[in-house]
Amino acid sequence: MWTGRKPRWFGDEPLVREPGMPERHLAGMSLASSVPASAGCSVHRVDDLAGWVAIAEPATQIVLWTRPRVAAIAEFAERVLTRLPLEFVAEVRTADLDTLDPLPPAATAADPSGAAAFRADVRELAAAFATLTGASRLGVRLLRLEAPMCPRFHTDFVGVRLLTTYCGVGTEYLDETAADRKFLGHQSQGAPDETSGLLRPGAQVQRVEPFTVALLKGAAWPGNQHRGAIHRSPPGRTPRVLLSFDVQGQDGGFDGFDPTGEGHDAPDATPHHAPCGTTGGACR
Ligand SMILES: [Fe+2]
Repeated sequence: MWTGRKPRWFGDEPLVREPGMPERHLAGMSLASSVPASAGCSVHRVDDLAGWVAIAEPATQIVLWTRPRVAAIAEFAERVLTRLPLEFVAEVRTADLDTLDPLPPAATAADPSGAAAFRADVRELAAAFATLTGASRLGVRLLRLEAPMCPRFHTDFVGVRLLTTYCGVGTEYLDETAADRKFLGHQSQGAPDETSGLLRPGAQVQRVEPFTVALLKGAAWPGNQHRGAIHRSPPGRTPRVLLSFDVQGQDGGFDGFDPTGEGHDAPDATPHHAPCGTTGGACR
């Protein structure tokens, strides 16, 4: 059961759309599809913003929005952002998202129109994530990465995190049925993921496609203790451009929901990747 108060964009609508329920549009976003019928799966693929509510399903650990690739944005990331130093890390008030600019001046100068499209996309995603979570402040990171920073499978001690890779290889993850959680983290005793026992026989390591938006539920989500999306950075040194959002503060968010995880200690022997769940940490 969803234990928190509904985000404001749901209004009085139930979180699970009943058959025949009409579409609603609030704040320019379609709220039509709601929770897919595949409730019970740990990974949901959705095709619009409305599908993000699937993250509220107890069994859901990952929501993947396979949105259409926008060439101007993807090409800007590929041609400009992979060739410049890029390490934007900031805490932003959601009231100020209209002025959020994570791009270095050199990137804007190199391609002003591409930069404008990219900037608008980041702002729109940030606004949607803030609306979903009721966040008053977001932790925003836009990074160019050339090495895996979290190479081992782990879970994060956060409520929910948004990740999207604009170009390069996307984050890797495991479906719930593919993993044996007792081999996560230090319980693997240092053995590689591929041989530790974490991967069940026949398990497939999945990758988030570039441009797809991933919502990763963490262990600080109500009722999700000892669970959370199992994920890691992809291997290799090909440059990637990664955007992430975390909730750093809420105004009237979910009752009893500490989305940052900072108000709780990670349970003993729980194999979370501790640095990923705090203000200064980064899951890459
Ligand atoms: Fe992580």
